[in-house]
Amino acid sequence: MNIEHLIDLNDCSKEEWEQIIDLAVQISNNPEEYSEHCKGKILATLFYEPSTRTQMSFQTAMLKLGGSAIGFDNPLNSSVSKGESLIDTIKIVSGYADIIAMRHPVEGSSLASAQYSNCPIINAGDGGHLHPTQTLTDLVTLRKEIGNINNLTIGFCGDLKYGRTVHSLIKALCHYNNIQFMLISTPELTLPTYFKDYILSNNCNFREISSLEQAIPELDVLYMTRIQKERFTSEALYLQLKNIYILDNKKLALAKPTLKILHPLPRVDEIAVEVDNDERAVYFKQAKYGVYARMALIITLLGQNYKQYQLKGSPSNHLCSNSRCITNQENGIQKSFYQVGGQSYCEYCDTQVQ
Ligand code: NCD
Repeated sequence: MNIEHLIDLNDCSKEEWEQIIDLAVQISNNPEEYSEHCKGKILATLFYEPSTRTQMSFQTAMLKLGGSAIGFDNPLNSSVSKGESLIDTIKIVSGYADIIAMRHPVEGSSLASAQYSNCPIINAGDGGHLHPTQTLTDLVTLRKEIGNINNLTIGFCGDLKYGRTVHSLIKALCHYNNIQFMLISTPELTLPTYFKDYILSNNCNFREISSLEQAIPELDVLYMTRIQKERFTSEALYLQLKNIYILDNKKLALAKPTLKILHPLPRVDEIAVEVDNDERAVYFKQAKYGVYARMALIITLLGQNYKQYQLKGSPSNHLCSNSRCITNQENGIQKSFYQVGGQSYCEYCDTQVQ
């Protein structure tokens, strides 16, 4: 395998990420066998945004592998509060730890970090952009709960605009056979153009629909999401949209008996608590599978020959039009753009150049 960092799951091939999933499934069947695998190794979790599952499951994964964990979950308790740049923090921490899992509100922050780090960087969420380890978790869940990831109709419901878990999972699912995407959202929360283009350029199809009731009877998998309050610039718009989709037993009565309901969690109101008792609800199991997915990822990355990330696109002095992109938020980051189908995209945040 040839991956030094995990920034975007699509940096590796489907065969490569399937090897990580195979290992995660193997670990889940016999976790004790791996209890000494990372003895003496240190994981640093740098969380610039709130997290329960992702951060704790990374720490649990490393502890279950016999290693140790350091880090912060509130940057105000670190030198960030004194004005230290992200890149300086990464240069320092990568001298202490063997592997870093980081979550940051700015898009492209993990990719920028991987160019300066002296150890592997795992993107545990970069703003509203990507969240590849949630995708590994979701794929392990589909494997364990359904068996086969091909020939599925999958509905994504809720905040498809800012939901980074949705973005990463859609990109991965485009590489399986006969996946039908149902995008269930309102016009304000629709999937960004880049991801729609990605679906089409990989010869997959999507349908857009605003009604969960109308979509649910066709689905094999329903991926519910939280409206991402922290990414809204208008409080009024958030309040208008926050309860727009609620899955309850009445809607679930319209679904197939074999449906699987996933949610990256945390949930707010989008799944009624009554649904938790339905055997089709697998979101709490999904959170547990995340530990095995992260154990497999840590083992894989620590087994590689380490290299700093090299930009793949063309270096440029052009500004990215996305104000949430790291190239507009931190000094000294080399801007870079790549081409697909005659269009140019920012390598850090995938925003299309207009
Ligand atoms: C998600 C995230 O942080 O993007 N949660 C997670 O990692 N399990 C989804 C969310 O916060 O809504």
